Amino acid sequence: MERGVSSMPGKQRRRRCVVLVVVAVLLLIVIIAVAIGVSLQQTPEQEQFKDTFITRCERFKEANCPEIWKVFQQAYVNQDHCKVPAEAYDALVAAAPFTPPCNRMMFWSKTKDVVHDFTEKKDCFVTLEDTLLGEVLDGLTWCGKEGSDETFTSGCPGWSECVDNPVRSFWNRISAAYADVACGEVTAMLNGSIPTPFHPDSIFGSVELKRFNATRVKTLNVVLVTQDNKVTNCTNASLKDLQMELDKGIKYNCKEAPQSQINACSSDPAAPCGSCW
Ligand SMILES: *[C@@H]1O[C@H](CO)[C@@H](O)[C@H](O)[C@H]1NC(C)=O
Ligand SMILES: *[C@@H]1O[C@H](CO)[C@@H](O)[C@H](O)[C@H]1NC(C)=O
Ligand SMILES: *[C@@H]1O[C@H](CO)[C@@H](O)[C@H](O)[C@H]1NC(C)=O
Ligand SMILES: *[C@@H]1O[C@H](CO)[C@@H](O)[C@H](O)[C@H]1NC(C)=O
Repeated sequence: MERGVSSMPGKQRRRRCVVLVVVAVLLLIVIIAVAIGVSLQQTPEQEQFKDTFITRCERFKEANCPEIWKVFQQAYVNQDHCKVPAEAYDALVAAAPFTPPCNRMMFWSKTKDVVHDFTEKKDCFVTLEDTLLGEVLDGLTWCGKEGSDETFTSGCPGWSECVDNPVRSFWNRISAAYADVACGEVTAMLNGSIPTPFHPDSIFGSVELKRFNATRVKTLNVVLVTQDNKVTNCTNASLKDLQMELDKGIKYNCKEAPQSQINACSSDPAAPCGSCW
């Protein structure tokens, strides 16, 4: 017989028992609460990424965003993050097809900030990043992992780490889809502050330009954006290479335009579209 317990009067023993039960129940509640908290927090990156996706998508009124999210994920979840080819996004392009704004389509290479500042302020031209898929995923990083249904935003391969990575394949695929539907007069903003404004390895050179089809595209207008110290001009040999890549039958124009002039024009509400260069 244990002395301590046996010597306790019955009432006191019962009270101690109640206290023990209460403590045990409280402990259980704390454990459950912590477990729920942990499970809710388990995938904050996934939740945040999805929130951003859906919020941006809902700016496009006609879009079925939950469906587009579902189809998007299917391209890369549960895949090795270096084995996602561009074709993995075929179903996504089909789920959110591009309706081409003929004569207003704007392509660009090495002029990202200027071109987007321009299309934001002036509703004249539409870049890929102004379309649903482009806008929703602009600036984001994502990948999957074999054996998991989750979306990761860290630990994903860099742009050049492997060719078939989820982000690079996405941009290649939707750039191709946007260029496929290009029509009428097409504009491309290139950088005149670098020695070689046209790079055959850029997305514009390797994907978009090759897709322009003379049955739909009438003219390609290159706008070469220059700064005070002009580095190159429309006579540059790389722009000859560009013309050779162009589908026969598409007319070509090139015009130099100072960046200051483009900025001034985009800030002037009275300036008509197309008068900025
Ligand atoms: C052209 O490239 C240079 C060097 O990378 C950069 O500083 C400049 O802002 C670019 N110009 C435009 C119009 O984006
Ligand atoms: C352009 O479209 C026509 C008809 O759809 C097709 O036969 C041709 O191969 C296309 N050309 C290019 C350069 O994609
Ligand atoms: C274009 O640049 C070349 C040198 O790169 C120069 O010889 C030529 O005069 C320039 N042409 C124009 C129209 O500015
Ligand atoms: C023009 O293009 C060629 C090749 O495409 C390049 O090597 C050259 O440096 C370019 N720029 C100037 C300013 O000449």
